[in-house]
Amino acid sequence: MSSAPIGIFDSGFGGLTVMKDIVSELPQYDYLYLGDNARSPYGTRSFETIYHYTLECVKYLFDQNCHLIILACNTASAKALRTIQQKDLPNIDPNRRVLGVIRPTAEVIGNYSKTGHVGVLGTSGTVTSNSYKIEINNQFPELTVLQEACPMWVPLVENQEFDSDGTDYFVQQHIDNILSKDPKIDTLLLACTHYPLLINKIKKFVDEDITILSQGEIVAKSLADYLNRHPEIEGKCTQNGTRRFLTTDSTDDFDAHANVFWGDTINSEFIHL
Ligand code: DGL
Repeated sequence: MSSAPIGIFDSGFGGLTVMKDIVSELPQYDYLYLGDNARSPYGTRSFETIYHYTLECVKYLFDQNCHLIILACNTASAKALRTIQQKDLPNIDPNRRVLGVIRPTAEVIGNYSKTGHVGVLGTSGTVTSNSYKIEINNQFPELTVLQEACPMWVPLVENQEFDSDGTDYFVQQHIDNILSKDPKIDTLLLACTHYPLLINKIKKFVDEDITILSQGEIVAKSLADYLNRHPEIEGKCTQNGTRRFLTTDSTDDFDAHANVFWGDTINSEFIHL
């Protein structure tokens, strides 16, 4: 039987942080990662552009025999997922599934907050879409949701500036901004694939009694639950423990960055879209 991996899509390297937790929760499956590095970052782009790029990548992963695709990218989940699920999937193949990272996070975030005030840190695209606010309030109508776009954080991570003094300025600026919008915030969500890599810096500017939530584990547990509840999809995902990594840009660059996000060596393959 030919391989039918679970597809993991991101605009670039960042989705590897999510895939790492998924693979550790569900190691038995085959995985195919696609990073659209040639066109990243997505975080600053328009709805139409992100939708067009994401759909193209989803179709590519379907052609590689993925029956289930996870959009590990928050920006793509915020701006493209709903249209792909509602408009495109019924035409492409109603038996395939594309899932995102926003819904699983929105389903649990209220369990972490005692004050009922939560903060969402994301790219400009994620924040302006309001997707988190809408999804969180669908699940927890009583929660107050504040958002803050942190446009410098992705480039800082991609340039491996996690520990530099200059990074403090940009991290503190956005933490101060969101906490001054609502001092009752007791839970901060890192709603971007890259932000977990700034966790040490973020902790420096956040009181200990504020919970900082990364998404990887939440998304991984939600996927495990989804596969249990959907045997018709689970049964199509092959289980040989393989991992392949595709990039739309330089494989040397991808492999050089991968260690930071993935924690191990990667030999990626180039694809042209
Ligand atoms: N992967 C994106 C996200 O999670 C961040 C990088 C980008 O802007 O492309 O929103």
